[in-house]
Amino acid sequence: MYDSIEEAGLKGRDFLSTQDWSVDELETLFSLAARLKADRKAGVPTRLLEDKTLYMIFFDSSTRTRNSFETGITQLGGHGIFLSPDKMQISHGENARDTANVLSRYGEAIAIRHCAFGEGNAYLSEVAEHASVPVLSMQCDVYHPCQILADYLTIREKLGSDRRLKLGVAWTSAPNYVRPISVPQSLILMMPRLGLDVTLAYPPEFMLLPDIEAQARENAAAAGTRFEISHRFEDAFEDADVVIPKSWGPLVHTRDHAEGVRLIEAYPDWRCDSNRMALGKDHMLYMHPLPADRGREVTDEVIDGPQSVVYDEAENRLHVQKALMALTM
Ligand code: CP
Repeated sequence: MYDSIEEAGLKGRDFLSTQDWSVDELETLFSLAARLKADRKAGVPTRLLEDKTLYMIFFDSSTRTRNSFETGITQLGGHGIFLSPDKMQISHGENARDTANVLSRYGEAIAIRHCAFGEGNAYLSEVAEHASVPVLSMQCDVYHPCQILADYLTIREKLGSDRRLKLGVAWTSAPNYVRPISVPQSLILMMPRLGLDVTLAYPPEFMLLPDIEAQARENAAAAGTRFEISHRFEDAFEDADVVIPKSWGPLVHTRDHAEGVRLIEAYPDWRCDSNRMALGKDHMLYMHPLPADRGREVTDEVIDGPQSVVYDEAENRLHVQKALMALTM
């Protein structure tokens, strides 16, 4: 299996969105992630990237993404360097071109998290244009592709891949901060391509980028799956196999922060509780990329309950990203 990494032909490829990878390429990644996970648990060494260096530039805070990437490159025999823009010459205006070229001379990949709305994806794309090593998204304002890889691996582990599943993606009210729209956007783009029917539910002001919603419709049509948008919370839960209720900001509707928080607070009933969970199939999984706003987005009873797989989902960030690094670096 590890011999076939070179044959996959993905060395040097960027990963800014799952849209840039074919379904076959994504399947290659999931197979490798499963193998790496099994080998790690069996104590089999997986030092596929000895002497290789990953640069991790974080414009935004992180618990899971930083630690899963850094642990992952360590387990693969390489080294991860955490970089904060305020401690780099980015803070004095060094541009994406110079940063990309210089880091490409030292190491084997550049990973970036930059979630500022209207800026993050443009920055990642500019680094990718100039870097001679792969650029990996650790989340931008448009996409969070590594999260969705982990979500799919978790669904496949729990429910298999041989039957048609309904995934509900629902907005939830969490006014402690205005979250990016990248998770729901990446979910609706990739899951229909991999055979899942997706229902996306949000109050009208929480629409996603129109071109992303249109692309999700195209993806579903091409794959023969369903993609629906609803403004009723319960539609994401009814008869679902998996539900991912999480908050995001009304960023497409308004860039005004105070108005955004006011709108988030206007829908307090958009909260995942046991009554909503009862609308799904008996085996319905509760998932959340974390961090979750407990008590606002979801009750403790649900997130700590038997249908919740949030820690398996967080663990799978490690395994899919190890596969991503092994394939591209
Ligand atoms: N889900 C996720 O990306 O978590 P962090 O923000 O902690 O990295």
